[in-house]
Amino acid sequence: MRIPAPSARQRLFLSDKHRYVAFGGARGGGKSWAVRIKAVLLAFGFPGIKIMIVRRTYPELRANHIGPLRQLLGDFAVYKDSTKELSFPNGSVILFRHCQTQSDIDKYQGTEVDVLFIDEATQFTEEQYDRFKACVRGVNSFPKRIYLTCNPGGVGHAFVKRLFVDRAYKESENGEDYSFIRSLVTDNKALMETNPDYVAQLKALPPKLRKAWLEGDWNIFDGQFFEEFRDIPEHYKDRKFTHVIEPFEVPREWNIVRSFDFGFAKPFSCDWWAIDYDGRAYLILQLYGGTATPNEGVKWHPDKIFSEIHRIESTHRWLKGKQITGVADPSIWDVSRGESVYDTACSNFVYFNKGDNKRIPGWMQCHYRMSFDENGLPMVYFFNTCTHAIRTLPLLQFSETLPEDLDTSQEDHFADSFRYFCMSRPIAPRKMPENKTIEKDPLNLLSGG
Ligand SMILES: Nc1ncnc2c1ncn2[C@@H]1O[C@H](COP(=O)(O)OP(=O)(O)OP(=O)(O)O)[C@@H](O)[C@H]1O
Ligand SMILES: [Mg+2]
Repeated sequence: MRIPAPSARQRLFLSDKHRYVAFGGARGGGKSWAVRIKAVLLAFGFPGIKIMIVRRTYPELRANHIGPLRQLLGDFAVYKDSTKELSFPNGSVILFRHCQTQSDIDKYQGTEVDVLFIDEATQFTEEQYDRFKACVRGVNSFPKRIYLTCNPGGVGHAFVKRLFVDRAYKESENGEDYSFIRSLVTDNKALMETNPDYVAQLKALPPKLRKAWLEGDWNIFDGQFFEEFRDIPEHYKDRKFTHVIEPFEVPREWNIVRSFDFGFAKPFSCDWWAIDYDGRAYLILQLYGGTATPNEGVKWHPDKIFSEIHRIESTHRWLKGKQITGVADPSIWDVSRGESVYDTACSNFVYFNKGDNKRIPGWMQCHYRMSFDENGLPMVYFFNTCTHAIRTLPLLQFSETLPEDLDTSQEDHFADSFRYFCMSRPIAPRKMPENKTIEKDPLNLLSGG
């Protein structure tokens, strides 16, 4: 067994002896690697020690820890799949545990360990963190330690930030027990050499996410969610550095996709997208079941919504006679209250595929599509006639409880429909040249500033 050399930051983490140590603060800093290696060093160094590595889902646990550790250790340790435990000849054990639901954590109630690693701690709530912390106990003389890795964002953003970044302690907590070792992707030479695209992808994110995940900034998740959104009429004609453009005659040959977010007591959003030969999407038409004044609350019965969609598709010159692919909010397949909304759609000759409702990857796809390339061209445009899209997108704010998501109490129906559309045609992140970021004023960019 040969353990590769740690980076300078990883070395600090491996030798840190505080009771609580957080490592990371950004993407790709070599956090999971450091967890694996520290667990192995402790297992060899303290015979009979019990270590637990926690990650939110089992597939992540397998990919980041169980698989690589088995590969690294070979015959030096024995892995038992039924108990998800790795046993060392000196009596030390590493337990692999995941926690996606409340019942998962209930299972670990009686577990006692000496050392706990929580990889991606910001993906856990503070309550879940406390429950895992309670497993670190026992009367032996082994050191009791808790190691966390973290990125800004996630449901645990606030408690990790309080303990390790703001260092604001409650009476029961002693600040001297806590240590935070910052590591950025630039500290991870191994990754920078083998996968330089990873950094390019982080750089292509909109400024707030880039600041969080590339620079490890914990203070950025507030304000406008789609901060990259640009509605600059002077740019409508050349279509550069704007997302909003004047309508044009949509070529008959372009594919049409219809995305839909359902709302019964709230607005629904039905959106028609035309796709050009480069895969660039144009929001060409929109049927929005709400008004600019939320109190009016237009409540359309599903039958009326879908018969209107069918009417538009049968008569509008851009849609008539075309094969239209639909993608919708998966909740419309729900049959718990009798006939599903989807059944009503079908009886009106309106068909959909189930949308992928993974929120954070979905928002990332929206961001990728909205990012400008070096010529100022995004992969999505909105016709300026689609007023509800243009009105609601810039109003959306970050969520206070789940930092990289948006606040769902707002008028997010078009955004959800946009997200289902993007997830139905995912694109790769677009690379932004070093000196051209969307933070800068687009006008300056055009004049070479
Ligand atoms: N010291 C090292 N020597 C060799 N390879 C390393 C080292 N540190 C990290 N790596 C490799 O770099 C890649 C990224 O590291 P790792 O997965 O630990 O980062 P991370 O901070 O957990 O990333 P993410 O934020 O995506 O979870 C992995 O392929 C890992 O094996
Ligand atoms: Mg990791």
